[in-house]
Amino acid sequence: MPDPHAHAHLSKTELLARKNEEALLGGGQARIDSQHKKGKLTARERVDLLMDEGSFEEIGKFVMHRAKDFGLDKEHYLGDGVVTGYGTVNGRLVYVFSQDFTVFGGSLSETHAEKIVKIMDLAMKNGAPVIGLNDSGGARIQEGVVSLGGYADIFYKNTMASGVVPQLSAIMGPCAGGAVYSPAITDFILMVENTSYMFVTGPNVVKTVTHEEVTSEELGGASTHSAKSGVTHFSCANEVMAITRVKQLLSYMPQNCEETAPAQPYEASGDESRAVLDQLIPENANQPYDMREVIEGIIDTDSFLEVHQNFAENIVVGFARLAGRSIGIVGNQPAVLAGVLDINASTKAARFVRFCDAFNIPLLVLEDVPGFLPGTDQEWRGIITNGAKLLYAFCEATVPRITVITRKAYGGAYDVMNSKHIGADMNYAWPTAEIAVMGAKGAAEIIFKREIAAAEDPAAKLQEKVDEYQEKFATPYRAAHRGFVDEVILPSQTRQKLIRAFKMLENKVETMPRKKHGNIPL
Ligand code: HXC
Repeated sequence: MPDPHAHAHLSKTELLARKNEEALLGGGQARIDSQHKKGKLTARERVDLLMDEGSFEEIGKFVMHRAKDFGLDKEHYLGDGVVTGYGTVNGRLVYVFSQDFTVFGGSLSETHAEKIVKIMDLAMKNGAPVIGLNDSGGARIQEGVVSLGGYADIFYKNTMASGVVPQLSAIMGPCAGGAVYSPAITDFILMVENTSYMFVTGPNVVKTVTHEEVTSEELGGASTHSAKSGVTHFSCANEVMAITRVKQLLSYMPQNCEETAPAQPYEASGDESRAVLDQLIPENANQPYDMREVIEGIIDTDSFLEVHQNFAENIVVGFARLAGRSIGIVGNQPAVLAGVLDINASTKAARFVRFCDAFNIPLLVLEDVPGFLPGTDQEWRGIITNGAKLLYAFCEATVPRITVITRKAYGGAYDVMNSKHIGADMNYAWPTAEIAVMGAKGAAEIIFKREIAAAEDPAAKLQEKVDEYQEKFATPYRAAHRGFVDEVILPSQTRQKLIRAFKMLENKVETMPRKKHGNIPL
């Protein structure tokens, strides 16, 4: 704990060296040891892991709090519980703040907040991502409302930076109370399994209010938020993996909304056909297959980074590269709930589409969707409003947008999943595509109801009508005749077609009508 008057005997350079040493120790060796014992790294170790070696420049290393109550006037730590600064990740500028749990439990004071806001301002002015490494006991209790004000300053800044520069939040310790709302406003959240948690109120308050007995891990650990709530996009086995994931994510993104994502070197092979794709769709249209295999068959080898892998698995979203260029993929997943669109799938995909659109990442939609999920549960929880989020997100996206219908494109879901009508630039269909108002059986039962009932053998009649409907509508050709589908292609040709089409769309410019902002159905 530095005493401002303790160094009077030191020369000026000695004093600087001493202060630097003190700052590096944060809350002291004992607390650093205790952090390690919990299986956690320190704030500085995390920054070192994140940044290119030797690239980190610290800002505000000697900042101290100004609080006086509850003995705080006698307890100061240089840096005040957060390490902030800038450096490079894979050669690209980023700003970082890393909360230091060894100093007042990483709690947020007025000055701690000021340091975070300062680097966010720099990030916005200079157009580079902000990475938050969160490990904090929340508001600095001794500071009261001043600390709450600090949080609000950060929330406001997060909102101003949203859509300007990418913001990533890694949760590496406690994150509770209103503090969770800063990560929630950022673009992606990563959590570390077993050592991090996020909740609005902890297990004790939960027990008092709802009489539920629940552990911190169950209430707000990484597995809960990656699979149940969808609050976190990534659940990481440990801190090193979380930081590796942050770096990987950044590689698909531009620095800011004015730029495009960096392309990886790619050598065209001359033959981009992928025969494996011709074997993927089962004969029987009711048989599942894994849309991830379609994705892997189209993109550059091993380039897929799935987002929200454990949440709403009936839709798959993630980043990939196609001929070296970054794209965002949204694919219905026939292997889970037949790929139906429900509330969670719609909100998951909508948020991903909006991120890609905000940061100029072209979108590829792989469509095999039987429709929206029926039932009271979905209706009463608002599948209408939530499904509309995905519709809205696609409608307003101005990035290059391409759809490939692999199999089913039924009902409203046909319209929603990046159809030509809502602004997709290129729409392809495989010969297995079925583009219709509904499945053949349901359709036949409705429109031939009387005829079937009057038939001598109603089952045979139904089958006859199903076959008739199937032949007429369960194909891509009606849509292709209309130009709603631009081309019917063999699955094996898909990669080649997409590489060319995205290249053709590279300089796409589309402007939106003048408005203050739209009103997405939240
Ligand atoms: C000041 C704090 C602190 C806080 C922890 N510390 N939280 N100091 N303000 N919020 C200090 C402790 O006094 C202790 O100091 C050190 O940090 C480590 O804390 P421990 O309790 O020893 O650690 P651990 O057992 O790991 O428990 C961590 C914890 C617990 C679960 C985070 O400390 C805790 O429950 N803290 C309070 C959490 C909280 O209620 N915060 C306010 C939430 S409301 P020493 O000197 O012993 O090392 C909020 C509102 C935000 O945040 C609103 C935004 C709108």
